[in-house]
Amino acid sequence: MSILKSISWIIWIFSSLALAAYLLFELAWSEDKSSFLIGEATHGHHQIELACSTCHTSPFGGGEVIQDACVNCHAQELSIAEDSHPKAKFTDPRNADRLAVLDATQCVTCHLEHQNEQTRAMGGTLADDFCWHCHQDIASERPSHEGMGFETCASAGCHNYHDNKALYENFLVKHAGEADLFMPAMRPLRDAVTEYLTDNPQTKALTVADIQPVEAPAEVFEHWQASSHATVGVECRDCHQANNSDWQKKPAIQVCQNCHEQEWQGFSQSHHGMRLSDKLSQSLSPMTPAQGRLVFQSDSLEKEMTCSTCHGPHELDLQKAASESCLSCHADDHSLAFEQSPHGQLWQQELAGEIAQGEGVSCATCHMPVVEQGGKHAVSHNVNDNLRPNEKMLRSVCMNCHGLAFSIDALADQELIKNNFLHAPSLHIKSIDMAVERVK
Ligand code: HEC
Ligand code: HEC
Ligand code: HEC
Ligand code: HEC
Ligand code: HEC
Ligand code: HEC
Ligand code: HEC
Ligand code: HEC
Ligand code: HEC
Ligand code: HEC
Repeated sequence: MSILKSISWIIWIFSSLALAAYLLFELAWSEDKSSFLIGEATHGHHQIELACSTCHTSPFGGGEVIQDACVNCHAQELSIAEDSHPKAKFTDPRNADRLAVLDATQCVTCHLEHQNEQTRAMGGTLADDFCWHCHQDIASERPSHEGMGFETCASAGCHNYHDNKALYENFLVKHAGEADLFMPAMRPLRDAVTEYLTDNPQTKALTVADIQPVEAPAEVFEHWQASSHATVGVECRDCHQANNSDWQKKPAIQVCQNCHEQEWQGFSQSHHGMRLSDKLSQSLSPMTPAQGRLVFQSDSLEKEMTCSTCHGPHELDLQKAASESCLSCHADDHSLAFEQSPHGQLWQQELAGEIAQGEGVSCATCHMPVVEQGGKHAVSHNVNDNLRPNEKMLRSVCMNCHGLAFSIDALADQELIKNNFLHAPSLHIKSIDMAVERVK
């Protein structure tokens, strides 16, 4: 009996190794990996689905290997979100019984891959009511929750599994009773180039007369001369002949990265730049709208996404980058509705100089807000950073101008998202009322 058992073990080990070796060979050396895909990747990862070994870092590794890959790319974001259910919460032995039902220390318990048809918004693959497993007793602790279905816990404006930074009780109570719109309603502005000059007093501005003669259309010189790059002494060869190379007609994106590391980090962690991320196991080409799953302008499909796509290599017009550039690609209902919305109208007024800088709302105000990074006010270049769950926008965007209750209601209203916040919200979420009632 025991001999038979060990023979079957040997056979099992041998065949597993052979399979693993085969997969390793195919994954590492085969050119076209699409034939190995076992199912369509999720909305979050479809752009990088062919870089298999980014997640499957070893063909021999199981769960832990994949877990490390998830954490490598997402740990920072979850820690900034002050994750309400971090792994540390479940290493407490008192929670062991809960983990037997649902191992919340492993990302793949809730986020499987290659099953896009069965995946819910935000990459979840569990049933809607999974909070039940650990919070069955909630109604006895909180009578206000009596009769609520467990599929509603994580609905808009109530709770999230990870990010509750704008939804915890004290925060709700603190911001109860705020006006719908603050006066003045202003978004924060990024630090101006003048501040850069103060911090770097040795900087010398350049004019066309200062640079080596180069052959180029007159317009290139005009744009460069009017840009902040001329003001801070960044000239043609800094980009076109970086590291003393020959003249490059199309400088690579790494040239921008050299001087703008922070913007690069945001960009390469978003759906715009993830294909160029240094965290991938192989380099992919820049993304084009043809590869996207949303609706795009038909003449934009082959446009490659790099820094210059929004900024232009020489112009660096930040107002153009903030909405005109977006609309040269994005053409879904939400994006197309923007210009007619109250926010879009305010943006037109800001462009025309009729209201102060900071009073308008552009696409970038919501999707690339100015946030404090290392003591400076800079633009977040990760358009996914506050996108889902959309309560992430409350603190970084809406609450600069609107009260919390109004903002929660607006973000929970699917109609308003589709028509880009054309009118006041038509529903009311009770979170704040419940929190106020409880502390009374
Ligand atoms: C974004 C990360 C990611 C990428 C990229 C990725 N996978 Fe996966 N893959 C996963 C996850 C997560 C699972 C589920 C693991 C589990 O069930 O424990 C999985 C499961 C699998 C499985 C089922 C066997 C198993 O280990 O459970 C195969 C086969 C597989 N992937 C092949 C591929 C191939 C081939 C590619 C590239 C064409 C690829 N994967 C790209 C994350 C990824
Ligand atoms: C190479 C880095 C990388 C790896 C590895 C990776 N991700 Fe992601 N993931 C991203 C990027 C980039 C996005 C898209 C931007 C965003 O939504 O944050 C994303 C999106 C997601 C989303 C979806 C968010 C949404 O709104 O749709 C979830 C959930 C997620 N990842 C979980 C995981 C899990 C679980 C793993 C491990 C199996 C994993 N990721 C592995 C980079 C990575
Ligand atoms: C018990 C289930 C569960 C586990 C375990 C889990 N998640 Fe999630 N995750 C969710 C749910 C549900 C959402 C949808 C948004 C929400 O409710 O917070 C989500 C959303 C996300 C998002 C979208 C952005 C955000 O801030 O919500 C990312 C990224 C993500 N998870 C990554 C991970 C990673 C990485 C791990 C492992 C370290 C992990 N998740 C473990 C359930 C889980
Ligand atoms: C695997 C078990 C588990 C699951 C599943 C789970 N939770 Fe929790 N949750 C906990 C534990 C443990 C705590 C810590 C407090 C406690 O002991 O109740 C907690 C705390 C919370 C808190 C308190 C907030 C905080 O920051 O401390 C909220 C709100 C919450 N969970 C909501 C949810 C929601 C919504 C879901 C489903 C989307 C969910 N939980 C799913 C185990 C779980
Ligand atoms: C901040 C970096 C940067 C600086 C500074 C810069 N360029 Fe460029 N330039 C680029 C990039 C990137 C491209 C390629 C754009 C693309 O992908 O099509 C480019 C394209 C060009 C082109 C070809 C396309 C066109 O617009 O006609 C010429 C010619 C050119 N640059 C000349 C110059 C001259 C002359 C200067 C100095 C006055 C200069 N550049 C300064 C980054 C720069
Ligand atoms: C040699 C360093 C250097 C290189 C290379 C460089 N930049 Fe800059 N750039 C700067 C400095 C310094 C500033 C001014 C300080 C600031 O605003 O952060 C600046 C400012 C900017 C601004 C803000 C413009 C404004 O009106 O305030 C944009 C946008 C920009 N750069 C984009 C790019 C892009 C795109 C590339 C690559 C094609 C690039 N930069 C390459 C150094 C560089
Ligand atoms: C070159 C065309 C192009 C330009 C310009 C562009 N985008 Fe995108 N954008 C895309 C593509 C393609 C995707 C990826 C969609 C996918 O992966 O399915 C995307 C993704 C996004 C997402 C994430 C969507 C999601 O569901 O995860 C947001 C938000 C977004 N863009 C906003 C903007 C904003 C705001 C601007 C202007 C400041 C802008 N985009 C400029 C092409 C573009
Ligand atoms: C007042 C804030 C606000 C403004 C202004 C705004 N958006 Fe959005 N956008 C949102 C919210 C909120 C969502 C929904 C996120 C969610 O719940 O999935 C969203 C979603 C998106 C998505 C993802 C759609 C999808 O189906 O995945 C894209 C792309 C996008 N916006 C682009 C734009 C563009 C382009 C503009 C300007 C023309 C713009 N947005 C203006 C708040 C805004
Ligand atoms: C989707 C369009 C888009 C892409 C792609 C993009 N930017 Fe930006 N960038 C903007 C917008 C919009 C602003 C200004 C927003 C504002 O003023 O509120 C900006 C601002 C900046 C600034 C001003 C300083 C600051 O606050 O960050 C720099 C520098 C910059 N971008 C560099 C880059 C670099 C480098 C890349 C590539 C890694 C890049 N951008 C890619 C849209 C984009
Ligand atoms: C820079 C300030 C500013 C920011 C940031 C901002 N808004 Fe607004 N919003 C306004 C102003 C001003 C109006 C016009 C109010 C009016 O005309 O009564 C408005 C109008 C609206 C309306 C239409 C109200 C009506 O009665 O017609 C909605 C809904 C709305 N905003 C939601 C949001 C949401 C959600 C966010 C965050 C994602 C947000 N706003 C971010 C300033 C802002």
